[in-house]
Amino acid sequence: MYPDCPIPEAITRILERRSVKAMDLSEPGPSQPEIEALIAAAVRVPDHGKLAPWRFITIQGDARHHLGTLLSSRWQALHPEAIQAQLNFEAARFKRAPVVIAVISRLKPDHKIPVWEQTLSAGAACQNLILTANLQGYAAQWLTEWYSYDEGVASAMALQPDERFAGFIYIGSSDEKPAERDRVSGTDVLTQWPEHAP
Ligand SMILES: Cc1cc2nc3c(=O)[nH]c(=O)nc-3n(C[C@H](O)[C@H](O)[C@H](O)COP(=O)(O)O)c2cc1C
Repeated sequence: MYPDCPIPEAITRILERRSVKAMDLSEPGPSQPEIEALIAAAVRVPDHGKLAPWRFITIQGDARHHLGTLLSSRWQALHPEAIQAQLNFEAARFKRAPVVIAVISRLKPDHKIPVWEQTLSAGAACQNLILTANLQGYAAQWLTEWYSYDEGVASAMALQPDERFAGFIYIGSSDEKPAERDRVSGTDVLTQWPEHAP
């Protein structure tokens, strides 16, 4: 269908894909044009009903510190017993990677397209971000951690009532190829229907 596209290389990258832990990501991160290409790839996901059930917020540069400060305050409010080291850890969370992209799932609960499908589309957007970042030569990790589920963080980041975080995609550079992770093989989870064909 696309005879000029170097598909085998892209497939190899997908077959070998591994996340790199956010704490192991370093500079440089994607440039502004590369971030724009990432978002262009993210909005290419299947989207039943053309609802665009997602939006994106980039967190980079000093903003990582500002959002980290907010996270730290929120952690302190939730855990008054927290020690300074924990607060410092929260304050530095977004600095683990040069670029973080928050993916927000935007649901239309009363729409004829089921919310399940709208949610799946946001997950697909996350994966498009990761795969495209990999193809750009960057490493990435999809994290939710505690703050994706926290009302205070959602409100500070201006999420609306039918919005929630699908995740935060941490993107940066990494020289080390991560070790392979135990995984099921495709054949472990594949059957053919009907299973007991005559
Ligand atoms: C929706 C979602 C949320 C995730 N949140 C976390 C998280 O909060 N912390 C974590 O360590 N891994 C989290 N992961 C797993 C990592 O993204 C990653 O898959 C894991 O480090 C394994 O690496 P792999 O992608 O190479 O298999 C999450 C994955 C998904 C799909």
